[in-house]
Amino acid sequence: MPTSRAKRPPGLARAEGDDFAGAVLDGLSRHQKSLPCRFFYDAEGSALFEEITRLPEYYPTRTETAILEAHAAEMAQAVPAGGILVEFGSGSSTKTEILLRQLPHVKAYVCVDVSESALLAARDRLAERFPALDVRPIIGDFSRPVCFPADLADQRKTGFFPGSTIGNLAPTEAVRLLGTFRSGLMPEGHLIVGVDLMKSARKLVLAYNDAQGVTAAFNLNLLARINRELAGTFDLAAFEHEAVYNPREGRIEMYLKSTCRQVVTVHGRRFSFKFGERIHTENSYKYGIDQFHTLARSAGWRPGRVWTDRGGLFSVHELVGP
Ligand code: SAH
Ligand code: AVI
Repeated sequence: MPTSRAKRPPGLARAEGDDFAGAVLDGLSRHQKSLPCRFFYDAEGSALFEEITRLPEYYPTRTETAILEAHAAEMAQAVPAGGILVEFGSGSSTKTEILLRQLPHVKAYVCVDVSESALLAARDRLAERFPALDVRPIIGDFSRPVCFPADLADQRKTGFFPGSTIGNLAPTEAVRLLGTFRSGLMPEGHLIVGVDLMKSARKLVLAYNDAQGVTAAFNLNLLARINRELAGTFDLAAFEHEAVYNPREGRIEMYLKSTCRQVVTVHGRRFSFKFGERIHTENSYKYGIDQFHTLARSAGWRPGRVWTDRGGLFSVHELVGP
């Protein structure tokens, strides 16, 4: 049964449902087969992502965490006393704790994510660690305008978008998303956003092809999810994980490659795969600091402070509303 129909535990607001079946059937019907990466994050996928964040090859999480730990007090200045912190794609909200420790006077923490399991676990952990904090989880797609609870609608808002999740969108979509965030955080909102930086292709390729095969399991779980929720017949042993760097686009591309000729059924529809045919599952764009500033300006933001690590691997940006 599609998860969007499942009963919700109390305390979780749900934005408009997502059409998993429609998106999968559409993506598999294309000449270049593709699947939207937001569907990676069912309970299994969210757990696998947490494993990825602890891998030795996956430098972004520990690097961004160290940047946040070093500069959280400065970043917290972007959140006015009595304001609301709004996180997009909050996942486990682990990094958020670093900011929250500097924000005793925040009125509420609104976290938006497509992953119900991640939101529930984060809500329960934050309730223990920050008992006075008003946590308002919203299940939904962050690319749609957030419908804030009525009592928070008129409060001042600061956005938080760590993890370089912005890199999972093509630049034109990223501009659109940053514009949507700006409208939602108006009139005077700030946004703190984590952006993975350009670096050697070798380091990037290793980060997405870890030795333990966790990223491969994360990628393949998308097919397992289709089998579970959409009566799919994918044989997971007949697809393999592939992650390559595309220097022209400045992005890592992830694929699932068919290792034989085969036919797969999903939701009663048949899809043929040639030997070696690939499903494109994710892009992860890497930016230079100036390049990201140009993108942010196109979305109507004014670039503010930038924090990076000594190795220049990752950046955290303050964007200021007009
Ligand atoms: N912010 C966390 C998690 C990053 S992983 C960190 O920095 O570690 C990306 C998160 O974004 C996942 O929790 C995933 O469920 C969520 N996500 C991806 N696409 C989304 C979308 N379109 N709408 C809402 N959440 C999304
Ligand atoms: C969430 N996002 C920024 C991760 C990334 O690095 O693009 C998702 C991921 N895909 C493979 N490993 C991690």
